Amino acid sequence: MIRSVVRGFGTALPKRVLTNAELESMVDTSDEWIVQRTGIRQRYIAGEGETTASLGEGAARAALDKAGLTAADIDLIIVATSTPDNTFPATAVNIQNRLGMHHGFAFDVQAVCSGFVYAVTTADAYIRGGLAKRVLVIGAETFSRILDWTDRTTCVLFGDGAGAIVLEAQEGAGTNADRGVLTTQLRSDGAHRDKLFVDGGPSTTGTVGHLRMEGREVFKHAVGMITDVVISSFDATGFTADDIDWLVPHQANKRIIDGSAKKLGIPLEKVVVTVDQHGNTSAASIPLALAAAAGDGRIKEGDIVLLEAMGGGFTWGAVLLRW
Ligand code: UT7
Repeated sequence: MIRSVVRGFGTALPKRVLTNAELESMVDTSDEWIVQRTGIRQRYIAGEGETTASLGEGAARAALDKAGLTAADIDLIIVATSTPDNTFPATAVNIQNRLGMHHGFAFDVQAVCSGFVYAVTTADAYIRGGLAKRVLVIGAETFSRILDWTDRTTCVLFGDGAGAIVLEAQEGAGTNADRGVLTTQLRSDGAHRDKLFVDGGPSTTGTVGHLRMEGREVFKHAVGMITDVVISSFDATGFTADDIDWLVPHQANKRIIDGSAKKLGIPLEKVVVTVDQHGNTSAASIPLALAAAAGDGRIKEGDIVLLEAMGGGFTWGAVLLRW
């Protein structure tokens, strides 16, 4: 059985750090409120010349380096983003060109904060279907460019950045002992559109628009939806919470991360948290967290790693893999 195995990982962050203290001088907020309600202490903000594609390119190059590969070895690039450089062409095609890659194919997936989980699921399907052998899966965002910087209920929450992994087709035995992606679970429900959306777009206002969120409403749904897809991942594999070495959740809010881990029975020592450093970077948050924990040696070969996310749409999903 063909499995999609992680062969490399990498990240890229903008140069500029924006602290909670700086936000205090921009809107009516406080470091204390932001830390208490979200766990966020700082976020990175893209400056001039830094875009979703440039950050995605940086993360992709780092992941290729780590894998000991070059763009010539890749046959598919999937970019998860809701903040593309342009309406079209796809940011994935832009990054393909930046990498000097003129073979294979590239496309974007758009599932907001669940984007990376959707992109890994898509890459895994292409790999297992025999349509690709090595896939660069990138989560890249510049949410700072769609924030309303006068709205304190949203502008303190988000940040910019990119993370990438290289997934490679490897032969497995078809058992849970295999390395690679073991199950993926995706869900969406468009009835929740108005709770988290951007109030513009090419086909409606002809503008880029700004992010609008009923935070409390999103919060109310988050833990239940995350638990739903994680339980489905357990049902599909026979694993239980005790088998999980590392939970790498979407980084929206420390309270949602803690609440989900508690409900699932996963101890906090096994949960990777980077929301304090990056804020919510939407589709980039999971690969940024994954690279942090794999880079410092916490995640080791053979470990069972659980990824999960929930976001705009609503979309939600989980990926269970052996590193
Ligand atoms: O990534 C995809 C999905 N997104 C999420 O998962 C985000 C989910 N939601 C959340 O993380 C939380 O709901 C927030 C962090 C957005 C808000 O936390 P909360 O505990 O739900 O606060 P709240 O919205 O109930 O607001 C509490 C109070 C309000 O004041 P009143 O009405 O109680 O007087 C807000 O006006 O906090 C006020 N407030 C702020 N105060 C200082 C809202 N934003 C701020 C702020 N600084 N930045």
